[in-house]
Amino acid sequence: MNKCKTSLLLAMVLMSVKGMSQARQEYLLEKNWKFAKGEHPEALNEAFNDKGWESVTVPHDWAIKGPFDGNNDLQKVQIVQNGEQEATMKAGRTGGLPFIGKGWYRLSFAVPQFSAGKRVVLLFDGAMSNAEVYVNGKKAGNWPYGYNSFSFDITDYIHAKGQNTLAVKLENFEQASRWYPGAGLYRNVHLIVTNDTHVPVWGTYITTPVITRDSAAVRMVTTIDRSNKQAAVTVKTNLLNAAGKIVATASAPLPADSSRVTQQFSVAEPALWSPETPVLYKAVTQVYEGAQLKDVYETPFGIRSIEYKAGKGFLLNGSPRKFKGVCNHHDLGPLGAAINTAALRRQVTLLKDMGCDAIRTTHNMPAPELVKLCDEMGIMVMVESFDEWKAPKVKNGYSLYFDEWVEKDLINMLHHFRNNPSNIMWSIGNEVPDQSSANGAAIARRLQDICHREDPTRPVTVGMDRFDDAINKGFAAVLDIPGFNYKPNRYPEAHNKLPQGFLMGSETASTVSSRGVYKFPVEFFKNKMYDDNQCSSYDFEACSWSQVPDDEFVQQDDLDYTIGEFVWTGFDYLGEPTPYDSKWPSHSSYFGIFDLAGIPKDRFYLYRSRWNTQQATLHLLPHWTWPGREGQVTPVFCYTSYPTAELFINGKSMGKISKDTSSNQSRYRLMWKDVVYQPGTIRVVAYDAAGKAVAADSVKTAGTPHHIQLTADRTVLTADGKDLAYITATVVDADGNVCPDADNLLQFEVSGAGKYKAVANGDATSLELFHLPQMKAFSGKLAFIVQAGEKAGSIKATVKSDQLQAASCVLKVK
Ligand code: GAL
Repeated sequence: MNKCKTSLLLAMVLMSVKGMSQARQEYLLEKNWKFAKGEHPEALNEAFNDKGWESVTVPHDWAIKGPFDGNNDLQKVQIVQNGEQEATMKAGRTGGLPFIGKGWYRLSFAVPQFSAGKRVVLLFDGAMSNAEVYVNGKKAGNWPYGYNSFSFDITDYIHAKGQNTLAVKLENFEQASRWYPGAGLYRNVHLIVTNDTHVPVWGTYITTPVITRDSAAVRMVTTIDRSNKQAAVTVKTNLLNAAGKIVATASAPLPADSSRVTQQFSVAEPALWSPETPVLYKAVTQVYEGAQLKDVYETPFGIRSIEYKAGKGFLLNGSPRKFKGVCNHHDLGPLGAAINTAALRRQVTLLKDMGCDAIRTTHNMPAPELVKLCDEMGIMVMVESFDEWKAPKVKNGYSLYFDEWVEKDLINMLHHFRNNPSNIMWSIGNEVPDQSSANGAAIARRLQDICHREDPTRPVTVGMDRFDDAINKGFAAVLDIPGFNYKPNRYPEAHNKLPQGFLMGSETASTVSSRGVYKFPVEFFKNKMYDDNQCSSYDFEACSWSQVPDDEFVQQDDLDYTIGEFVWTGFDYLGEPTPYDSKWPSHSSYFGIFDLAGIPKDRFYLYRSRWNTQQATLHLLPHWTWPGREGQVTPVFCYTSYPTAELFINGKSMGKISKDTSSNQSRYRLMWKDVVYQPGTIRVVAYDAAGKAVAADSVKTAGTPHHIQLTADRTVLTADGKDLAYITATVVDADGNVCPDADNLLQFEVSGAGKYKAVANGDATSLELFHLPQMKAFSGKLAFIVQAGEKAGSIKATVKSDQLQAASCVLKVK
């Protein structure tokens, strides 16, 4: 008896508590999981001995520790959407990591507060993939699509007392993806305990049908699940503003013949949500059966209006704006697919500094943590669902599940994210080959109708690449928002042929570059490959189907019916190393505005100069350390928000240039194309519109690598065992100039109240492992990650290297 009590108590301590009220308890199942790769059919049984299995914490990505190998998911494919004529071997297409195969997770858990009449639900934010869930040896359910959230009521399988056994089997097939999908329980798993009469998972739906300056009408539909249909149920809801003050309240009986109750509120002088003012409200719903409180359910929401109109484009709260968006895959670089709020927050922080105001969650449902951060920090979100419908792109992709699962998958996504104010449209697909099928338009209409049925307030889009088929076969005309991938030159034609009266660059640019790498001569190239498997950071290189950034900018600026763009991509990601798809060891993308470590490439400053209207941008490229290039033409570009600048090489003026309309590039970049390299200093002086010199920047030729400089993105972390600091290490000369070619091997030591977590250098060809505490610098830099422990204290992070002076920094953990 004592033993049982102890283990129950222990289990409670090991689960982190998310939501607690007398009526409902929510736990995150994070710790003490056991994991084994391979097939273990007996592992679903309670009695199975998993002592020999690896102990892991969830979220967990079983493949991110590698090793990299070109034979992992080696795909011989012809990528039709890239215009390839024949099949070739693609080693790094999905990242070269060992994610294929089966894996099992087991957890022993107690259900505190469980008693007769309670309900217990398991909610998975995502499980990669083909999840089969067993509780105490009984199958609770399965869910194939690895990106979606799903839940099972496991009440009937729970032991009233003592420990329960949860077993999850996952399986990833080869040739199921076009990028690194991750592997395992890579998102959170929740255990939810409620009374029998309760609000089910995603059981509320809040809309704001009328908004004026003086008041907002708020409508809330709450679903109640219960076995006893006789008892009188009353639903009381308070709306709280951001300060926690009650601003509206309503109470309504649940109609006897219904499981839904509708409540209407009026909020005076509403504070409207926008990227610039991400104000949130919260609905707190109490469910009474007679006089007994049965459930308390919280729904964060925002008050804002969205409109998409012919002749006006997109309006948020009545004001027209164009999306300054990026597409992002779900992986977090060196952390793999395992979700981490601090890592996501860093991404959102970096994007916001660029002036970005929107994210497209390509090409699948996002982690709920991302959408929550976008609500809180102010980023609009296009919530996307699928990369495939019925017609396959890869052998084992979503087309295998489409018929049976598409509606279920959509419904979960729609219910999950329909209260998030940041969510401003749904995407039902990306570049689906069904654009060309006879029934493609009919499928689009069916899926769009499902979205409208479950959420009439948000429009629906698809990222379309097959321009002619999509237009001629009536596909594009079906959609609320026509989204085009890489078709800026055809926007006028689309606008003439389509009924909507506006259109969107759902995926744009796909410019390729490697941070800090510059190639000569500086020319426009498509699909250009070099011996070192890198791409040039002059931002003149794209793919056969794609463009450099400026070619999209002109259309967004000149055509009033464009509603903005979503750049491919914000961050580099694992897999899809175009243009080196067939050239191992490349295994991560070159498309990112930020590299895989989250360090900005030059392109960051080009987008920032255009998108960040609050702060000035002034950035020079390339670096100025070119031994051997003396006397050779070495163009200098300046990405700046100022209209005019003058460049000086070692004090000598190279002329003053203003942005002009002579080419797409000269509208957005200042370019001194004939500069001849000589070591020394390049300096730029920027002038405002009135001709006044207002800012300056310079780059110096660096000497030999001498010491390491560290910059942490945060110096105070939360003692939750999860919080992260990203520390950028830069190799510099004795005077502190960045050594742009430095590739010194750096080693990390982390002591005190945290631990070393992972590292990345942004080199798409590096096969060094992220979790080992050493890596070579790439173009003079890398970023390593330190994770807080669960106790307050301080962390000391030290970076050493054979030839360099070491460096340390100290972080606080509170
Ligand atoms: C698009 C596709 C993306 C990515 C991109 C690379 O066609 O939608 O997923 O593959 O090309 O340029």
